[in-house]
Amino acid sequence: MNSNQLSKRLETVASFIRPAKTFADIGSDHAYLPCYAVKKGIVTRAVAGEVVEGPFQSAKRQVASVGLSAHIDVRKGSGLAVLKAGEVECITIAGMGGPLIASILKEGADKLSGVKKLVLQPNIAAHSVRTWLNSNGWIIEDEAILEEDGQLYEVISSVLGAGKKLTEKELYFGPYLMNSQNEAFRLKWQRELTQIDQVLTQLSSAKDSEGAARKKQEIIKKRQWIKDVMNDENTERS
Ligand SMILES: C[S@@+](CC[C@H](N)C(=O)[O-])C[C@H]1O[C@@H](n2cnc3c(N)ncnc32)[C@H](O)[C@@H]1O
Repeated sequence: MNSNQLSKRLETVASFIRPAKTFADIGSDHAYLPCYAVKKGIVTRAVAGEVVEGPFQSAKRQVASVGLSAHIDVRKGSGLAVLKAGEVECITIAGMGGPLIASILKEGADKLSGVKKLVLQPNIAAHSVRTWLNSNGWIIEDEAILEEDGQLYEVISSVLGAGKKLTEKELYFGPYLMNSQNEAFRLKWQRELTQIDQVLTQLSSAKDSEGAARKKQEIIKKRQWIKDVMNDENTERS
């Protein structure tokens, strides 16, 4: 992967940035995404934000090495603190856990004025990102799920505006993903079912306690949701 050739995961994130002409990539690491987006003419300007010194230096080197320092500002800082309000039309946050992405958005709420689009790629617990979006005036306008190197990645594209309240299941599975149910979606939730079954087996041999019983109830509920959504008899637990 480099700034000419992104991973399928980051290319999918990039594909959702339009029509924004400016964006900030928070947690940019190597800054491949902003370099790619400027080179491809997707945007004219970008900010690469990074909180850790090593990746921050690597982002600066990368941007300089492809001659894009006039178009991409590499800034060191946590979350949206690197931005001025109204500076960019779109924000991307990719390759972090869902709860961390949600907390970056929550803590940086004052920097979101002027931002029209959020493209978010949580590595785990995507429902926490959808929940934040749905409770804070953002509409999920599209989603993608893809497999790369054996991993499954979800990408959520959202725009500012008042939308309908999503159901618990839509927040958990993704309103678009659960409707289209592509191969990657089915693989993700088949894997999840296998894990759930392993946990249930462990819990069945664990000592009874109120905590274990509550956890078991919660997991059984999620298991039923997955079966309902996939509507697949092959997922029956014997
Ligand atoms: C796994 S990397 C993902 C890099 C790139 N976005 C991608 O998707 O390939 C996560 C990056 O986010 C950075 N990061 C974590 N928390 C951050 C925060 N609060 N603000 C800015 N960057 C953060 C880490 O230092 C790391 O470089």
